Amino acid sequence: MTVSLNDIVSLAKRRGFFYPGSDIYGGLANTWDYGPLGAELKKKIKDLWWETFITRRSDMVGLDSAVISSSKVWEASGHVASFADAMVDCKTCHSRTRADHLIEGHFEKKGSEIKVEGKSMAELSQLIKDNKIKCPTCGGLELTDARSFNLLFPVHLGILAETADLAYLRGETAQGIFTNFKNITDSTRVRLPFGVGQMGKSFRNEITKGQAIFRTVEFEQGEIEYFFNPENTNWEELFESWLTAMKKFVTDTLGINSENLRTREHDDKERSFYSKRTVDLEYNYPFGFKELWGLAYRTDYDLNQHIKFSGKDLSYLDPSSNTKLVPHVIEPAVGIDRIVLMVLCDAYWNDTENNRVVLKLSPKLAPYTVAVFPLVKNNETVVEKARGVFDTLASKFRVAWDDRGNIGKRYYYQDEMGTPYCVTVDYQTLEDGTVTVRDRDTTEQLRIPIESLSAHLEKLL
Ligand code: GAP
Repeated sequence: MTVSLNDIVSLAKRRGFFYPGSDIYGGLANTWDYGPLGAELKKKIKDLWWETFITRRSDMVGLDSAVISSSKVWEASGHVASFADAMVDCKTCHSRTRADHLIEGHFEKKGSEIKVEGKSMAELSQLIKDNKIKCPTCGGLELTDARSFNLLFPVHLGILAETADLAYLRGETAQGIFTNFKNITDSTRVRLPFGVGQMGKSFRNEITKGQAIFRTVEFEQGEIEYFFNPENTNWEELFESWLTAMKKFVTDTLGINSENLRTREHDDKERSFYSKRTVDLEYNYPFGFKELWGLAYRTDYDLNQHIKFSGKDLSYLDPSSNTKLVPHVIEPAVGIDRIVLMVLCDAYWNDTENNRVVLKLSPKLAPYTVAVFPLVKNNETVVEKARGVFDTLASKFRVAWDDRGNIGKRYYYQDEMGTPYCVTVDYQTLEDGTVTVRDRDTTEQLRIPIESLSAHLEKLL
């Protein structure tokens, strides 16, 4: 990966993909706001995910459950007891760091790789001491022992503090699917095997800084719980088919270079105790290969936990055998913000030959598909003609309008936004009704009659 995270963050701010959260007040750690281009890009990604995994499949349904949920949900899921990261504090500068990131980062810098998931607090503290790992902020060697910090955000519902009910902002969208399992099977005609997909915000009290939208306290997930009967469905085959579907979405639908992807199998220590198999699909971000999309076989753990804690019957009645069962699930879970970051990193091209930065976004993802420019803004006839072209194209595509500055600068501005085509209305347009169409990647220009412009662009896209 040649692009740096700084390049991406600077382009994102310059062109309006994303900005630091609460920016005018000095920022709020690990929060980011999506700007006009980022909002468009993210929406396109979300629409493609929903269309691919829900709309186009007869075995899938969607859900949109509440972000705030009862504390009982998170007690049952195990998040209250064990959804925690190990943290260490620096005794010199008082900054707080995740112990796993600190240790893994230390070894990564030395050219070796270790995974510390599953290690106890004492083992983590020992590793830090034995390897003389320093505070990443001030370089100090005096770090506290590793301690456990829960990642859930508590909220208090009610006006009076004494009577307020404790609830939590959801730490994953998945639990809303499990708690609604009975509602879904009772209110729809779904039959096993089937999946429920949901997309929305999740919240985790993350403290690791400096990874932009990769790791934030508020982020968006696209999660699927695919329910099946292990008696008549081969889970290994189902697992492989989901892994293939995830990869296909990333390479074929989003246009990501497959060389920047790899899969990583979780070993027994790293895998959650209830999971029979977990694989991460990783992308080569500017800070190395990191998890983009997780795939886990969660067995019947979650439904059984909710049966135990709620006392409700969440089993499924198999209509063919008239027997009840608690289905098992395979869960593909992706972070939408991590997809946005991957898409930007993969598309970033420093075109040194033409002294420009280009976002080679797939036209399906580009916030604007085409830009329309009047060559000059002080010639009413040219501007009027260009407005006409804009209006015609706007009925089919997302079109940008720009009449400021010289034409070269306007092209470069659109290149950084990832706009695949720019159409210029000039003096020749007034004579023969043709416009130029400029290609973002090759910078080549063609002259096309206005009447065939829409069809021409549709063909290219
Ligand atoms: N229900 C399973 C689950 O939530 P996870 O691996 O913790 O599993 C799923 O999260 C995906 O959500 C990850 O693969 C990642 O893409 C995204 N994700 C997790 N934590 C995140 C964070 N703090 N910021 C942005 N994305 C995050």
